[in-house]
Amino acid sequence: MPCKISTSIQDAIQILNRDELIGLPTETVYGLAGNGLSPAAVEIIYRTKNRPSSQPLILHIAGPERVEDLVSACPTQVYTLIEHFWPGPLTLVLPKSHRVPDQVTGQQATVAIRMPSHDLALELLRQLPYPLAAPSANPFTRISPTTAHQVAEYFPEQLEMVLDGGACQQGLESTILYIENQDIFLLRRGTLLPERIEEVVKQKLILPSTLIQTPKVPGSHIKHYAPRTRIEVIDSLHSIPASGTSLKIGLLLHQGDAELQDRYVCKVLSKEGDLKEIASNFYQALQELDAQGLDLIVTEAFVPEGLGLTLNDRLFRAAAK
Ligand code: TXA
Ligand code: MG
Repeated sequence: MPCKISTSIQDAIQILNRDELIGLPTETVYGLAGNGLSPAAVEIIYRTKNRPSSQPLILHIAGPERVEDLVSACPTQVYTLIEHFWPGPLTLVLPKSHRVPDQVTGQQATVAIRMPSHDLALELLRQLPYPLAAPSANPFTRISPTTAHQVAEYFPEQLEMVLDGGACQQGLESTILYIENQDIFLLRRGTLLPERIEEVVKQKLILPSTLIQTPKVPGSHIKHYAPRTRIEVIDSLHSIPASGTSLKIGLLLHQGDAELQDRYVCKVLSKEGDLKEIASNFYQALQELDAQGLDLIVTEAFVPEGLGLTLNDRLFRAAAK
């Protein structure tokens, strides 16, 4: 039976209680969700996504009161972080409790947890007696989906249902932090910016560029979030020669540009170049360009500050050969 797109929480619960999976809306990207306390359901997540089981999953919960059961220790900064940023796009990596199956954490002693800021997802999570393990709902190394339709297209036969929560508001995966001995490591950039976190915890984060052999994010291998079409990142799109190539080229534009839009197949991320809008449209725009049978997608890097750093992270992974 092909995958259905529905807003029925009751149907979602029935499927999850059978240890099967659903597509889960969140404010970041859609997740491929199953019972996070059931080794059987977790195995199916890895298999469906075709993801190596050494790459751990995030547990999604309905509220801070559900953390206690899942962790064996909670550094003091965690309370501050939760109070300020949950529900929201912040994942915390903490020492796991015995309740969390080893399959969820890729045999590691830590578990990643977040409370998503999405009404329908929270309504579902509140009604479940277990957390939902959910990686982004894309086959391994493909672009993360930001609409229910995209999830159903990726897994037409393997999924019975996607819970339809509309287009994801943020559009990029959550920020991931790991805390050890009072140090806070930024493991993955997201839409919640390190500057905001530093303001709240009143300490500097240890950034990915300064991580030398410290807790790495398993599976953050370079090629990731990738379309099938080759991507080239260049300094200025205005330097593309006007003729002399037989390649079918499409451009991913940060903002509207009448001259380029006249000459090429283009996807505009935000008419006015607004970074939040760019982030929310980024994966969907790549997806649409990828579907056009092009030989090459060409784009520029983002100004490397704030959300631009997160976007560059995803862009360079998508462009990695
Ligand atoms: O926004 C998000 O975080 C989305 C939505 C669905 O919540 N989920 C998501 O999951 O991006 P996924 O599986 O695509 O990425 C999770 C990342 C992986 O890179 C994984 O290695 C890291 O989190 N991770 C999970 N558990 C970890 C742990 N115990 N220690 C370090 N990294 C961990
Ligand atoms: Mg992912």
